[in-house]
Amino acid sequence: MHIPDIIIAIDGYSSTGKSSFAKLIAREFGFRYLDSGALYRGVTLYAMEHGLIGADGAIDVKALGEALPYIDLDFVAGSNGSKTYMGSRCIEKEIRSLDVSQKVSPVSALPQVREYVDRKLRELGSRRRVVIDGRDIGVTVFPDAELKIFMTADPEVRAMRRMKEMQGKGEKVEFADVLANVKERDYIDSHRKVSPLAKADDAVVLDNSEMTLEDQMVWIRKLLAGKFGEN
Ligand code: DC
Repeated sequence: MHIPDIIIAIDGYSSTGKSSFAKLIAREFGFRYLDSGALYRGVTLYAMEHGLIGADGAIDVKALGEALPYIDLDFVAGSNGSKTYMGSRCIEKEIRSLDVSQKVSPVSALPQVREYVDRKLRELGSRRRVVIDGRDIGVTVFPDAELKIFMTADPEVRAMRRMKEMQGKGEKVEFADVLANVKERDYIDSHRKVSPLAKADDAVVLDNSEMTLEDQMVWIRKLLAGKFGEN
């Protein structure tokens, strides 16, 4: 099935599998995948490596704001999917570290950082044929996206997925703690002042509590065929 050069925006709660779904869509339909979370993580890594985040977690907002125009983040396609680069350096592994994960939230709440990431995403998506995942893509970054999907799933299901992922990395965790963290993140994501997680009025809701990735692919093929199918 051939799909025209549209923008697909995927927003939703944490641990709903947005990036796995977005990557598969990109591969199947020949779209470029833009991982907005990776850009926030890249800015956080830059701030950490340049001493802009103190031991107490305080961010040197002024210095970071001045540095932003010079942080050269991009996605480079490889045989194993797309990877995040800072200049000529692949930072894919570093940005997924626990250290970055723990510091990214306050960095991503800074208005200058959000402006920087929004601008970068619009630049990277200017030729369209992109699938982008995040929290505010359909509402803020690409309100004109032709297809907007809002992903959700029961908190218990998401906590179980997250727990398995963490156990896979050798971390010991209690289900009750992971569930509490999922609910807390939902609350913070939906209530923060700057660009809270929000469903666009024209977004299609996908509740994948009882769906596998393949079920989701069947769902989107049908949706795309109905809306854009050219054959
Ligand atoms: O999806 P992720 O875990 O890689 O996102 C990293 C952080 O960036 C997370 O704290 C949420 C934030 N984020 C955001 O505020 N807006 C987006 N569009 C994407 C991510």
